Amino acid sequence: MSEHAPASGQPLWHGRFGEGPADELLAFTVSLPFDRRLAGDDLIGARAHVQMLARVGLLTDDERRVLIAALDRVEEELAGDTFAFAPSDEDIHTAIERRVTEIAGEVGAKLHTGRSRNDQVALDLRLYLRREGRAVAVRIHELQRVLLQRAGESTEIALPGYTHLQRAQPVLLAHHLLAHFWALARDVDRWHDCLARADVSPLGAGALAGSSLPLDPAWVASELEFARPFENSLDAVSDRDFVAEALFVAALTQVHLSRIGEEIVLWSTDEFGFILLADAYATGSSMLPQKKNPDIAELARGKAGRLIGDLTGFLATLKALPLAYNRDLQEDKEPLFDALDTCMLSLSALAGLMSTVTFVDTAMTAGADSPFNAATDIAEHLVRQGMPFREAHALVGALVRQSVERGVPLDELVSNDPRLGPDFLVFLEPGSAVRRRSTPGGAGPEPVARQLVQARDRIERQQTWLAR
Ligand code: ARG
Repeated sequence: MSEHAPASGQPLWHGRFGEGPADELLAFTVSLPFDRRLAGDDLIGARAHVQMLARVGLLTDDERRVLIAALDRVEEELAGDTFAFAPSDEDIHTAIERRVTEIAGEVGAKLHTGRSRNDQVALDLRLYLRREGRAVAVRIHELQRVLLQRAGESTEIALPGYTHLQRAQPVLLAHHLLAHFWALARDVDRWHDCLARADVSPLGAGALAGSSLPLDPAWVASELEFARPFENSLDAVSDRDFVAEALFVAALTQVHLSRIGEEIVLWSTDEFGFILLADAYATGSSMLPQKKNPDIAELARGKAGRLIGDLTGFLATLKALPLAYNRDLQEDKEPLFDALDTCMLSLSALAGLMSTVTFVDTAMTAGADSPFNAATDIAEHLVRQGMPFREAHALVGALVRQSVERGVPLDELVSNDPRLGPDFLVFLEPGSAVRRRSTPGGAGPEPVARQLVQARDRIERQQTWLAR
């Protein structure tokens, strides 16, 4: 080994330093415990870098072979759990380079030619996000499939639709489930768009200013199947917009899951009684034998707070950072990993819950058929007969008030009112109100049948992107 190659136990910058790092420094600055999971991405980046160095004449063919073999060996050691980390391994990048140098000897010292950990770590994280962001989108897609499937089975069941959590108008259960489907479809779109913007290779930016060596960033970018190389080396190493955007998209996805979760919590109460959770997707109480709790739904809801924290915490880290790389940026990884891991787990758990939940159609139907839910339709029929809507609204509102205050059923008041009469009783027939929701995008059978076609079409188009 050459005397200039870092020996095991020495930091990579040992040449400039008279003494080794303090224990407190290592303990505080180390990122290995969490950036270990970038090992595979670091190796992919390192191989592309080595190939590029050979192409531009900075490595001989033999040197290239030795380095690639050493990287292969490192990969095996990591996969077989035989990779021995050294106390001086500050992060996964230093660990891999140290080990390559141990294996390849003198040639190992050429691996980092024209490369900095600043462009290296930015590359690794983009490679990670490209893979894992898509994996989140796949799981969103799977939950959408479950919702679509359950919606397809639920075109005969009506339940009350709510505003202000007060019963408003009946809607088909299919319509309600599809409302969540469309929110998730937008999340998939957002993952697609944010991953497209993140599709930039930063390798070749060096520490901040490029290199005096004849590096070829465009070749590396295409070798790694990025859409394009960076335009500006300072931007390449300091840009973490892709992390912030991914955190936002993950947080919004989780916020959508929290809204689904909240409804599952409500619907599974005795008070609503709209759903029964499958035993495998519910939990019991350690003390109360009768309990069956919706913990998945509650955690999907609760974890939204955590993802919002990941996003806002990281934005605070980025705020006012001067160009270019600053060690603060090391704080990008934990929130990103946490957000994507959490979101993926939530999606799978909710998909399982939703595919096994029982809808209690009797309870939903009873709620949907509450006569007051037809109040708007009665007013709208008066409108069809020529009465201005405000007047009709006041007339029906007064009848509802009488019904509530005097305890007289609404149908009696309707049929005895000279301005209405028995003809209006059709509006109060059980199951009829939802069938009248016929406008495009509305909650009744015809528009919902068309919506199911649109949703299936959307799933197909998403599938085309996700399978690519
Ligand atoms: N562990 C560091 C990070 O995650 C790698 C880059 C360190 N670069 C440096 N110049 N200290 O950001």
